[in-house]
Amino acid sequence: MKQKNLSQVDPAVFHLCKEEEDRQARTLTLIASENHCSSAVRETMASFLTDKYAEGYPGRRYYGGCEVGDEVERLARNRAKELFGAEAANVQPHSGTQANLAAYLAVMNAGDPLLGMALNAGGHLSHGFARNHTGMLFRAEHYGLDDETGLINYDEVQAKAESLRPKVLVGGGSSYPRLIDWERLRKIAHGVGGLLMADIAHPAGLIAGKVIPSPVGVADLVTMTTHKTLRGPRGGMILCGKDLIKKVNSSVFPGGQGGPFLHAIAAKAVAFGEALRPEFQDYARQVVVNAKALGDALLGLGYELVTGGTDTHLLTVDLRPKGISGKEAEARCLELGLVINKNLIPKDPRPAMETSGLRLGTPALTTRGFKEEEVREVAELLDRAISGKDREAVRARVRELAEAHPLP
Ligand SMILES: Cc1ncc(COP(=O)(O)O)c(C=O)c1O
Repeated sequence: MKQKNLSQVDPAVFHLCKEEEDRQARTLTLIASENHCSSAVRETMASFLTDKYAEGYPGRRYYGGCEVGDEVERLARNRAKELFGAEAANVQPHSGTQANLAAYLAVMNAGDPLLGMALNAGGHLSHGFARNHTGMLFRAEHYGLDDETGLINYDEVQAKAESLRPKVLVGGGSSYPRLIDWERLRKIAHGVGGLLMADIAHPAGLIAGKVIPSPVGVADLVTMTTHKTLRGPRGGMILCGKDLIKKVNSSVFPGGQGGPFLHAIAAKAVAFGEALRPEFQDYARQVVVNAKALGDALLGLGYELVTGGTDTHLLTVDLRPKGISGKEAEARCLELGLVINKNLIPKDPRPAMETSGLRLGTPALTTRGFKEEEVREVAELLDRAISGKDREAVRARVRELAEAHPLP
């Protein structure tokens, strides 16, 4: 087959890819779950590995010609274990949601009790939400946050665990800005005869970069996405002890997936290799420094923050002092190139499609080289965008900042 590039083969898709690149380049991403992976990760995602079937695991495949695939998967696994100090890793899950379902089904049966953080408290759909398969398969109940502090109320978790006796207690979420007491959650889970699963989809990069405490070795199962703070390709991963890896492996394949995405596994290996370098720890540290700077600047501008601040890469902003909904604030920012998302706050009086809050994160800005001073300026731009002041000046300055910080 003669090599032709995408622009010749399919101009329509080529232009869409280019448009997305331009959109990312000329705007500032403050979505906490997004990041910009390296060009090495992108290049690997576009490699010939995408063509290869490799059902099974290294050394035990259902297809011939998997020698290279075996090497790729072994390399990714070994780097994952080194990066997180884990005994065992499964690098095949196609996404965080797939990783979670596979991890649950490694240790639970349909109908078993599951306890996780409520969606409106910052939990994830895959923690037993009624319309997610995890909510349909398991007898799921949820814990919330303390109304006053916005923090996990461990006494409530304990009480719910004692009455439900979950087989799996899941900790972690999509918009929780504070550290989680993994030891306490483990005690609660084990105290009722269950297991602890830590879903570190969001802070995985901060844990790999050693800036916040790790649940590896504390939780029985650790699941994550590889594309958020960890800055790899879109995908998932499960870590566990040697005692559980056989069950985890058969739950991922043949339990929940067919052929692994070898191109994505290779790109995970590249991202883990990048995360093992000292520069990654500088990046992870700066993500948190930037989030704190963003939070302090917003407090100074009269906003409130759920829990009063952050220990991680994300903040939940309470917009009620400004009298504007999350939906409206999101739209005003988006129009000027500040890409953010609306978010529920604890006991939000508005519905989920409107909300009274915003979720902001600093991974993508940090990857583009933003430091505290520029992040403080971003807080001012957000404030001016939300209040509708000097719209054209804000738009121009956002563009200027974006152009001064190219995508990797
Ligand atoms: C806590 C948590 N778990 C799981 C996931 C699911 O990841 P994915 O979108 O790759 O399925 C997310 C994604 O936002 C998440 O925040």
